[in-house]
Amino acid sequence: MKLTKKMQSALLMENNRQLFKCPICSAGMEMVDHSRLVCRDMHSFDLAKSGYVNLAPQAHSTKYDKSLFEARTLVMNSGYFGPVLENVIARINDHLTGTEHSVVLDAGCGEGTHLHAIHSQLGTECIGIGIDLAKEGIAAASKNYPGIIWSVADLAAMPFADAQLDAIINILSPANYAEFNRLLKPGGMIVKVVPESGYLQELRDAFYEGKQQKEEADPLERFREQFDAVESERLTYTFSLPEGLLEPLIRMTPLTWNASEERVREVLSAGMKEITIDLRVIVGVRR
Ligand SMILES: C[S@@+](CC[C@H](N)C(=O)[O-])C[C@H]1O[C@@H](n2cnc3c(N)ncnc32)[C@H](O)[C@@H]1O
Ligand SMILES: [Zn+2]
Repeated sequence: MKLTKKMQSALLMENNRQLFKCPICSAGMEMVDHSRLVCRDMHSFDLAKSGYVNLAPQAHSTKYDKSLFEARTLVMNSGYFGPVLENVIARINDHLTGTEHSVVLDAGCGEGTHLHAIHSQLGTECIGIGIDLAKEGIAAASKNYPGIIWSVADLAAMPFADAQLDAIINILSPANYAEFNRLLKPGGMIVKVVPESGYLQELRDAFYEGKQQKEEADPLERFREQFDAVESERLTYTFSLPEGLLEPLIRMTPLTWNASEERVREVLSAGMKEITIDLRVIVGVRR
């Protein structure tokens, strides 16, 4: 008999319950009736039908809604991110060589396509955990990609016990290095992907006439303060946009949030043949 998504997920969480801690009181959690995680103090968190668990103490509404995540899934499944994922997978596999059972968490996983791709290609027996504050992202992830622990959670206060993770992935999402250090095993690895100046240049040209958006503080510098064995690599390539992908590309990125619908329509009718991907992969290990 085929297990439901919820049952499959309940068993996965039950078998790995030592990973969890209550987001309210920090006590350990147990799976009860294959349907909810409950702590010693009886704080209780139901599994959704699709198998994810909401462990964010308060509801958060974010600008990342269902349609944005649907657009992201289309774009991410187009091969657009292929070289970046290959790079990340090779680095994690390298790090996990000789580790029999590993746990890899994606902090700010969105709709989960990257973690799914990475998890399915890790050579070891690996537990994947994806967390994001946007419920719509986690709901989509759990529907599309069973076999991974999906949880709505804040990456600045994650509902997981100390020093359990072999690697943390953090792609185009905010970071909280104190929290990442708490969760990583000593020697555990962090892989962060940040945008470089040319990322989505053609969209920037179309919507901002080439004007740069505000640059963030140098992420590499901050990374070196926190982690050992820091390495970084810039990946720059152009991706030919298949028919029909421009609209989801425009819809999926915060870059165009302030653009008028009229401008979006103009850019769509002008068309776009290719798009520049310019990202930096930064890795380090916990001290
Ligand atoms: C640009 S998206 C990247 C999503 C995914 N990593 C990807 O590359 O497709 C940024 C993500 O960070 C998430 N995020 C922002 N603040 C967060 C927080 N405090 N805790 C968890 N997720 C957060 C957002 O909900 C969003 O899904
Ligand atoms: Zn509790």
